[in-house]
Amino acid sequence: MSLYSKQDPRVYKLDTLTGYTSEEKNLILEFLKIEKYYRYALKTMNAIIENLDDYCENTFLHNPIHHIESRIKSPENIIEKMHRRGYEINMETLKKQIYDVSGMRVICHYINDIYQIISLLSKQKDIKVRLTKDYIISPKPTGYRSVHIVFDVSVYFGVEPIIVPVEIQFRTIAMDMWASLEHELRYKSNNDFTETDKKNLKQYSDDLYQVDLNMQKIYIKKTTGDIDDD
Ligand code: GTP
Ligand code: MG
Repeated sequence: MSLYSKQDPRVYKLDTLTGYTSEEKNLILEFLKIEKYYRYALKTMNAIIENLDDYCENTFLHNPIHHIESRIKSPENIIEKMHRRGYEINMETLKKQIYDVSGMRVICHYINDIYQIISLLSKQKDIKVRLTKDYIISPKPTGYRSVHIVFDVSVYFGVEPIIVPVEIQFRTIAMDMWASLEHELRYKSNNDFTETDKKNLKQYSDDLYQVDLNMQKIYIKKTTGDIDDD
């Protein structure tokens, strides 16, 4: 069922959109016409990743993925991002410059699971890595950790393939916990953390990373049959 079917209140709201310039309104209308391609790409990517999790369960007797989340960026957030980056507000720029309209989070159990899934995905012929940002190897100054990858996904609407970017944030459960709470706290504090809060949040991220490594060590020990050292 279409998110933007006639029943969708957001379609009706378009008639009464206030506070938008004419180029912003045009972009919203144009975007809603092709929004379905971004949803197809999310569905395709979701199926690919679920199949990979299944493959790992069958082959390695382990499910790397804890859960998957996905969303389509709202037109409001697309416009906000384009302004923040100083882009011209039109469809051409949106298609060329904004890679996270289709966005997914793949939450894994262990750090090694993330790299295993990425390695398997990179070898698949029907998707292509466009961009990688590894914030696990190089965390952000806030303490944020995840690997962000933009994949080019072919979707078919009829017979013609359309290439659509999908951004995936890969993280462990611990990294996801930190990012969710930090995001919530950032919002609550109006994006204005004290220096002490910043320092503590960074420290908690480092502590959780250590927990991730330690839990993974136990997992490896249990699954490789290594003798306990205690
Ligand atoms: P956006 O314009 O926000 O998409 O930034 P970007 O395109 O430069 O991408 P970046 O690699 O910085 O990743 C942005 C996304 O990563 C955000 O939307 C968040 O989901 C997540 N993220 C990045 N930094 C942080 C952080 O410090 N804290 C939290 N909680 N999330 C972060
Ligand atoms: Mg983003």
